[in-house]
Amino acid sequence: MCGIVAYIGHKEAYPIIIKGLKRLEYRGYDSAGIALLNDGSLNVYKKQGKVANLEEYSSDKDRGGHSGIGHTRWATHGEPNDINAHPHLSEDEDLAIIHNGIIENYDSIKKELLSKGYTFKSDTDTEVLCYLINDIRKNTGTKLGEAVRLALQQVIGAYAIVVISKSEPDKIIAARKSSPLVVGIGHEGDFYLASDATPIVEYTKRVVYMNDEEIAVLRAGEEMKLYGIDDVEKTPYVQELELHLEALEKGGYDHFMLKEIHEQPRSIEDCFRGRMNAEKGWVSLGGIKEYEQKMVNANRIIMIACGTSWHACLVGEYLFEDLARINVEVEYASEFRYRNPIITENDVVIAVSQSGETADTLAALELAKSKGATILGICNVVGSSISRITDAGSYTHAGPEIGVASTKAFTAQVTVLTLMALSLAKRKGTISESEFRTKLSELEAIPQKVQQILEKNDKIKYIAAQYQNASNALYLGRGSSFPVALEGALKLKEISYIHAEGYPAAEMKHGPIALIDEEMPVFVIATKGTSYEKVVSNIQEVKARKGKIIAIVTEGDVQVTAIADHVIEIPEVDEHLVPLLATIPFQLLSYHIAVMRKCNVDQPRNLAKSVTVE
Ligand code: G6P
Repeated sequence: MCGIVAYIGHKEAYPIIIKGLKRLEYRGYDSAGIALLNDGSLNVYKKQGKVANLEEYSSDKDRGGHSGIGHTRWATHGEPNDINAHPHLSEDEDLAIIHNGIIENYDSIKKELLSKGYTFKSDTDTEVLCYLINDIRKNTGTKLGEAVRLALQQVIGAYAIVVISKSEPDKIIAARKSSPLVVGIGHEGDFYLASDATPIVEYTKRVVYMNDEEIAVLRAGEEMKLYGIDDVEKTPYVQELELHLEALEKGGYDHFMLKEIHEQPRSIEDCFRGRMNAEKGWVSLGGIKEYEQKMVNANRIIMIACGTSWHACLVGEYLFEDLARINVEVEYASEFRYRNPIITENDVVIAVSQSGETADTLAALELAKSKGATILGICNVVGSSISRITDAGSYTHAGPEIGVASTKAFTAQVTVLTLMALSLAKRKGTISESEFRTKLSELEAIPQKVQQILEKNDKIKYIAAQYQNASNALYLGRGSSFPVALEGALKLKEISYIHAEGYPAAEMKHGPIALIDEEMPVFVIATKGTSYEKVVSNIQEVKARKGKIIAIVTEGDVQVTAIADHVIEIPEVDEHLVPLLATIPFQLLSYHIAVMRKCNVDQPRNLAKSVTVE
């Protein structure tokens, strides 16, 4: 939430920062701003809306300079206007700051500064922090780095900040706590900073992921200096990035979301490649291997997540319970962390997160860790905060997901959870050898089956056109297809702004059925399997009330096809793997409906991809 970019070196800072902000726009797009140090002046430009507005606004202004900071905002304190946009300046306009996070005690700091006679221009917590740093600098006569350190000692909350100063133009000071910050070490003594590595990879692959309560001092042409908030110097741990630039481009697709939907045959394969062999009958998730016995013996496994990742956990719950007979509870991270949950050393907590940065998920994990539970992670972003604080974990290897609405990350999460469930089932002896092997070869065939569904795009687009003007929609599924229904409804509402709800099909008669009339599209997962007949009855109930049925069925289906308004066939598949296929048509349907409604598919209003505030 909020993206930050900074540069210091021998190149022009403006193009690097603007390009970086565009890469980070998925983190928020309420406003964008930039501050550049050029020949003794500090030029700040900020504009409500997207980075493109900022570019246009600043086009006739001085954009020179070899050092600067930039910000793309997802508003927390203060409405998203030009004034509240970052960077913020100190009262004497010597300091400029960008910030991702929330300063929780900003009000008390602000009151103290107001009593000293300061007046503020914006409503933001960030401006308060900027004033505080400058106040300390002036009162104590310290240099910028030390003033930042002293100010942060007073701060409660989350921050990734970067500060520059007109009177100390040779350096950039950066610090983080609970919000991500990566430093790229350039080849010619230059430094790149960003909320994630995507703005950096073009220039260097050598990066340092900053840890909580660390402060970096960066001077062009010199070594990176790193200190703890307690002033103890640390040695930066330099890592090599594995990210490739092509993964950050649209590659000929109209939208990132469409590209990411189409990448799924490959991303699912990348996720299981090298981790299983159907022919030889083994699964091995290297990252968590030594924790598997602990999982088998655990009191229970608690899966925590938010948004789409929470839906993946619900699928995981079905798989773990049914295949491995292990007790699983799925929790919204935001509820779990404040509910005073009962956690013991015999619990295993698995956090599932695409970004690995979601504030609530991180905090819930920290809570579980403090109570002695084993904490594991399933993340997509390598080097992310969750992947670093967990005892062990498995990456999903889906590649960068840029569209705000999650697609390929979801199927990759479900793939990892499937592998885990199968591995635990084998270890526990709750699955027969032949069933185990059959499921592995079914999993191996999933990429090709996803491809077959993607080839039905034209039909799905035709169906989307019939419902593009709907104001409400209902999604129904049973068993592990219930989370798919939830995910289908989430996809539709987040990108097309049509109100949609996911329900267990049998629950429909306890309320939602009252909404059904001839205007209401009802999307149902009615694939072959244990609850097929029951879902058919639910479909009849909808039809009796003149609702429109769009059903996802198994190839060759006759019964549902005869009564539904539209059917989308998916290839026959093992029942445990249905979620991996059934979710694909819903992704495409939502995508096409959103495009037809002229919505911003990749950057839906009010949303952000990485939610680093609670
Ligand atoms: C945001 C994103 C969702 C995502 C959720 C959890 O709401 O828009 O796509 O599912 O955060 O994010 P995580 O990175 O933890 O999976």
